Amino acid sequence: MVNNSPANNFYCIETDLLNLDFSFQGLTQKQLNELAERRLPENFELLRKELLAGEFDNKTEGRKVSHCLNRSIHNVVKAGNGKNRFTEIVRELRSGQWLGTTGKVITDVVNIGVGGSDLGPMMGSFALKEFADDNSLHTLHTHFVSSMDGGQLYAVLPILNPETTVFIIASKSFGTIDTLANVNTVKAWLEPKLTEHQWLERHVIGVSANSQGMTDFGIPPAQQLSFADSVGGRYSLWSAIGLPIALTIGANQFSKMLEGAKAMDDHFSKAPFLENIPMLLALIGIYNREVRGINNLAILPYDGRLRYLPSYMQQLDMESNGKQATHDNQPLNAPTGPIIWGGYGPNGQHAFFQHLHQGWDHFTADFIAVLHRQAPNFSSDVQRALREQQRLSVSNCLAHRKLMWEGAQSSGDPRNAYIGGHPTNLLYVDELTPQSFGALIAAYEHKVFTQGVIWGINSFDQPGVEKGKKCAVDILDVIDGNRSMVFDPSTNNIIKRM
Ligand code: F6P
Repeated sequence: MVNNSPANNFYCIETDLLNLDFSFQGLTQKQLNELAERRLPENFELLRKELLAGEFDNKTEGRKVSHCLNRSIHNVVKAGNGKNRFTEIVRELRSGQWLGTTGKVITDVVNIGVGGSDLGPMMGSFALKEFADDNSLHTLHTHFVSSMDGGQLYAVLPILNPETTVFIIASKSFGTIDTLANVNTVKAWLEPKLTEHQWLERHVIGVSANSQGMTDFGIPPAQQLSFADSVGGRYSLWSAIGLPIALTIGANQFSKMLEGAKAMDDHFSKAPFLENIPMLLALIGIYNREVRGINNLAILPYDGRLRYLPSYMQQLDMESNGKQATHDNQPLNAPTGPIIWGGYGPNGQHAFFQHLHQGWDHFTADFIAVLHRQAPNFSSDVQRALREQQRLSVSNCLAHRKLMWEGAQSSGDPRNAYIGGHPTNLLYVDELTPQSFGALIAAYEHKVFTQGVIWGINSFDQPGVEKGKKCAVDILDVIDGNRSMVFDPSTNNIIKRM
C-alpha cells in the first residue's frame, strides 16, 4: 500500500525550461538516495558521458548511439550530404520558391514514414505550429501517412494535386515495407498529371541513413537528406527526420527545439542526482515497477498541442525497454519497462478517468501541464479567452492528480469512495515553446536511457519487432500464392478467406 498520508511533502525540481514535481510519489529523499545507491551501476557516469558524446555502444547492432550529437543545427545541416540542403529545402518550400515540374508552387507536403520516422515529426509539427517564423510567404499544408493499410492515403490523396505536392519518404533504413507500400500507391496515383520521372525530379525528398537506397530509388542527390546510422529511429526527430517540423516552424525555430534538448543534456550531465529530472524520473519509475509492482504509466498531457505525446512515448519507452535479455544476452527474470499508455488529459477525464479514480487497477501517471499561454497571433479578446482556458485546464489537472493521490473517503457510501494512493509526477513548463518542448522530450529520452542502464538492457535495438516482420513476410507469401505453408487453423482460416 502506498503511503499517501504526509500531504505536506513538497518535492519539486525547477530548471529554466522544465520542472518536475514528484511530491505525490510518496518517496522521501532518503528512500530515493538508498534506491540510487542500490540500483545505479558504478559506471553510470561513464556511460552517461558516452551517451552525450555519441560514444555509447549499441552492442547488438554493432554501432554507436549518436542522437545527442544532433542537438545542434550544424549537425543536421552537415548531414545533408555536407551541403546546407536541410535549411535550403526548408526555405525554398516555405517561401513558395520550390516549383513542381509543371511550374506550379508546392502547397502540400506529405511525410510518408512509420515509427520514429512518423511519430516524432508529427508530434513536433502539431505541438509547435504557432511558433512558425512568419517569413513564410505562403501556407504549406503538412500531412502524415504511416499506416501500411493505405487508410491514411485513402483520406489524403483526394485533396492533393500531384503537381503541387512534395512527398517526403522518411525511412532510416529505406526498406520498411509499410513506407514502401504507401509510396507504391502514391506512384499509382500520379498519372495522368505527372510521370514517375517528373515526380522524382521535383516532388520527392528522401530522408534516410541509407544513401544508396535513396539513389537506387531515383531521388536526385539534391533532394536527399541523410543522417547517421547511429541515430536510432525513435531518437531521430533531432536529425533530418525532423524536416516536417522545420517545414512547419522554420529552420530557426527548429534550432531552438534543438537548443532546448541540448540544455536538458547539460542538466542531465551535471545536476546532482536528487536535482536531476531524468534521473529522478528513472529512479521513481524503477521504484514503482519493482517495489510497488505497477506495470504501467499513463502519459497525460493537459495541453491539446501535446496530444501526440502519448503515442510518441509508447515507442520511445516500450521499444527501448520492453526487453527480457541483458546486454550480454543473459535472460532477465525481473520486469523491465512498463506499458506506456495515456491520452490528452482533459479528454481522458471524460473517458477513462472514472476507472482511474474508482476502478480496481494500479497505475502511475505523468501529468504534463503548461501554465501560461501567450497566443500572440490572436486579438486581445481571444488571447484573454485562451488564457482562461489554460487556467481551466491547469485546475483540472491539479484536481484529478490530487484526487488520484489523496483519495477521498466517505464512510458507508461506496459510490463516493476514492481509494487514492496512485503515485503520479507533475511535469510542467511555464510556456510551451520550441525550447521547452525540446527539453521535455530529451528528459524522457534520458529517463529511458537511465532505466535501460539500471536494468542492464540495450535500449537501442528492437529484436521483437524484427521477428514480427519476418513472420509477416511468410504469411504474405502464402496469401499471394507464392508459397504453400500451413499455419495454425485460425491463421489458415483468414488466409483462405483472402
Ligand atoms: O518498428 C521498428 C522500426 O525499426 C522502428 O524502430 C523505426 O522507427 C521504424 O521501424 C521505421 O523504420 P524506418 O525509419 O527504417 O523506416
